[in-house]
Amino acid sequence: MIQLDVIRVSHSWILVVIGLVWFSYRKIRQRRAVKPLSPTTTSGKHEIDAEDAYYQIEPVSDFDLESTEPIKIRPFKPKYHLTMALENVTLSDLVAIDNTYKSRIALRSQLIRNKTFDVLAANPIISPAVTEFYEWIIGTYLPQRFPTMFKLTAPAPDSRAAPGLRNLVTGQTLPLTPWSAESALQIIGENIDDDFLFLLPTGTGADAGKYKLEGFITCFPSGFNTAQKLNMKLADIHGPVPGYSDKLEKSMDRFFANLPVGKIVRRVNWSITTTRELHVLSGTHLTMEQLKEREGREAEEEEVEIENTVLRCERQTLHRLPRTKALVFAFKTYQYGMQEMKDEGCGTELAEAIDGLGLGSVPGITVYKRQVVWGEKVKAFLRS
Ligand code: HEM
Ligand SMILES: *[C@@H]1O[C@H](CO)[C@@H](O)[C@H](O)[C@H]1NC(C)=O
Ligand SMILES: *[C@@H]1O[C@H](CO)[C@@H](O)[C@H](O)[C@H]1NC(C)=O
Ligand SMILES: *[C@@H]1O[C@H](CO)[C@@H](O)[C@H](O)[C@H]1NC(C)=O
Repeated sequence: MIQLDVIRVSHSWILVVIGLVWFSYRKIRQRRAVKPLSPTTTSGKHEIDAEDAYYQIEPVSDFDLESTEPIKIRPFKPKYHLTMALENVTLSDLVAIDNTYKSRIALRSQLIRNKTFDVLAANPIISPAVTEFYEWIIGTYLPQRFPTMFKLTAPAPDSRAAPGLRNLVTGQTLPLTPWSAESALQIIGENIDDDFLFLLPTGTGADAGKYKLEGFITCFPSGFNTAQKLNMKLADIHGPVPGYSDKLEKSMDRFFANLPVGKIVRRVNWSITTTRELHVLSGTHLTMEQLKEREGREAEEEEVEIENTVLRCERQTLHRLPRTKALVFAFKTYQYGMQEMKDEGCGTELAEAIDGLGLGSVPGITVYKRQVVWGEKVKAFLRS
């Protein structure tokens, strides 16, 4: 953007003209790259139906932020099996909002400002997909799904203001077209309490067709640094997950390659974390090597404080963008305190599931999720 004080220096008009030309050129290119989504612009009948799904968003007409409690996800089972465990849902289900919204987005905005390069990135190749997603979620999804919270604004005809989306909670108006992929990710991150990851198939070589992480806004990772996963294929992203290559890799690669436009799936996962922090870049997972090292110096027992220990769940979705065909993996993070679990009457059940981590298809998940560190203390509390 052109700095205003530049205009004061001599010959500044040259800069202004260059700036304006560059700016218009960029806008035109952006518009060419991503035409506005409209079901009538595609050719095949099948494609029209598939894209239609993006415009048939069911409104939550009476949505009231303050009285909407976070959903309660209780995904734990007596035995942990490493499976995709996907459910079919609809595009309307993409984003869930509840009364933690204000504090969550305040935290997200701080993280985006303080730790920009940990939480947000976009390779040039993913720009059109990020723009496509931004224009749809800001211009269509949010105002259609949560009309009491997001309103499209049309300025008076004689006004020079651009139309936008008004976030009625924050009072901010968001542009309908982003300046750049980074600013799109920033605005998404500051207005939606979901993390979004963008994947594209690799073009050539032995790995052709395997999906790679090309961009993300992830404020609340649970024990990994997304920036270090950028440019990685699914299998490498999941490198630390025991059993992944045996039990999941093939079916995941196949599923990612074949997921059609208009379809969206959901899954949930869970773990126990000994911190209430939402932005966790490391420390919630353990490898066998780290475990051996720990055993060598058992004196420094880690403090597990039950008050700071939570059941951490993610509600995850995956869908494909109709134009750029990129895949969007999204997740929203939930935390439930141990006392809450007990009060709810599922203490015994959760304790059983904690033992069950080692009784399913991949017993190594016990070490990976650090059950060996927090397991005994948490089970004792839940069963007391
Ligand atoms: C249907 C899709 C997916 C399935 C079934 C799946 C499955 C899993 C499983 C079983 C774990 C072990 C932790 C747990 O859930 O208990 C895991 C970890 C992880 N997944 Fe996924 N995943 C999926 C998609 C993705 C995508 C698209 C990304 C990123 C682009 C991703 C990033 C990660 C990361 C970063 C971890 C942590 C790995 C680490 O410890 O460094 N997952 N995933
Ligand atoms: C989800 O939908 C697909 C068809 O698109 C179907 O084959 C599959 O069985 C469905 N899965 C579930 C869990 O219902
Ligand atoms: C961000 O930085 C500000 C100023 O240094 C600090 O007050 C705030 O706690 C930080 N927030 C996060 C979440 O890092
Ligand atoms: C849930 O799965 C996601 C991605 O598949 C992973 O990044 C995260 O660490 C897992 N969360 C927990 C709480 O295990």
